[in-house]
This record gives sequence, structure tokens and C-alpha cells, in this order.
Amino acid sequence: MSKRITVAIDGPAGAGKSTLARRIADKLGYLYIDTGAMYRAIGLWAVRANVALSDMHRLEQLANEARIEFVPGSGGVLLNGEDVTEAIRAPEIAEAASKVSMVPAVRRAMVAKQREIGERASVVMEGRDIGSVVFPDATVKIFLDARPEVRVERRAGESLLPPEIIARQISERDQRDRTRPESPLVQAPDAVYVDTTGLSVDDVEAALLKIIRDRTSNGKERTQ
Ligand code: DC
Repeated sequence: MSKRITVAIDGPAGAGKSTLARRIADKLGYLYIDTGAMYRAIGLWAVRANVALSDMHRLEQLANEARIEFVPGSGGVLLNGEDVTEAIRAPEIAEAASKVSMVPAVRRAMVAKQREIGERASVVMEGRDIGSVVFPDATVKIFLDARPEVRVERRAGESLLPPEIIARQISERDQRDRTRPESPLVQAPDAVYVDTTGLSVDDVEAALLKIIRDRTSNGKERTQ
């Protein structure tokens, strides 16, 4: 049986992780796992259930009880059987996700689920701590980045909010994600840094596929 391959893609909001990770997973025939969607699902549940985002104990319970599923091939996300694909993309849920993701017990529950998925299949998993914490031994680690103004521009294209509001939201989330004590967003020392500023999606895809193919051969990890 061929060895499972784990491709870890980390980076800040708007760097292009979701678009690229999904494309690459399609090309390679691996599972695509958007771990931000998992934190968003917990954030959504907390907001709907009126759980304070400072109530660590209740948030831990929600994270342990949540059944989060990815619908293969469609990018769909189910929370306890309900399709929440659209609902988790609301700006207030991005905010809630960033806050619940600071809670250590919530992270522990999500990391356990992510490892379970990655132990069963070859995956392209994207997030903030995949190469540093979830899969420190990932086959390939990529840190995707872009200049802040480019990341704001990309998010503004997907939203009805004015660019200055998006710029503030992204900068606050970046700050929280990079400075939280538990698993902050950092580049793993062995990750390949890719700056997507000024590059087309096709160019970045080609660059990432080359990095992955250089590290793997016929779906098997290179040993030398
Ligand atoms: O990638 P995203 O915008 O959907 O992520 C939503 C929030 O979840 C973001 O503020 C950071 C957090 N997150 C995290 O802490 N760890 C991950 N592996 C993925 C996302």
C-alpha cells in the first residue's frame, strides 16, 4: 500500500490558502481539509447558542460535542448534520472563530479531529498550525503569504463590506492569530515560504505542485 501523504499549508487570512489547497487536492486526488471551517463551525454554534466567547468551559463542551463533516469534493461543511457552508462565511462568524480558536481546549479537540482525518487518507490540510502543531512530520509544509494590502484586496472582492473595514478586521485577526499563546500562526522552520503577491492562481498552483512533486514520487514520500 502506498504511503499516506500529508501536505500542510499555513498562512494568514487572504494569502490564498483555500483556493490553492482545494485546487491542489483536486489535482493530486487527496482530501481537502479546511481547518478554519472547523473553528468557524464552533464559532457559529457558540453564537447561535448564546455562549459567551469568553466562556471556556462551555466552548470546550461545544468543541467536544460538535460533529463536523466535510462533504467530499463539494467544499460543503456539515455541523451536527446541518449544512453550514454559507453560514460560517459571515464576517461575525470569522470574528467568533478567531476568538474560539484562542481557547486551548477547543484547539485540542480540533487538532484531535484533524489528526484522525489525516491518519486515514492523503490530505491537503490548510490552516494556521498544521505544519507546526497538527502534523509536525507532514510530508510537505508550505507557508503561503502575501503583502497585507493584497490580502485585503482579495477579501474585499469576496465581500460587500467597505475595504477599510475589511483591512481593520484582517489586521485584528492577524494580530490575534499571531500573538495568541496557544499555537500561534508561525512558519514552521522546515516550511517552504511562498509569497503570492503579484502571482496568478495558476502560477502559484504550478509552484506548489512542483514543491510537492519534488518531495514525493508516484505518491510515495522520497526517502533520500
Ligand atoms: O482560515 P479562516 O479565516 O477560515 O480561519 C478562521 C479563524 O480560525 C482564524 O481567525 C484563525 C483560526 N484558525 C486557527 O486558529 N487554526 C487553524 N488551523 C485554522 C484557523
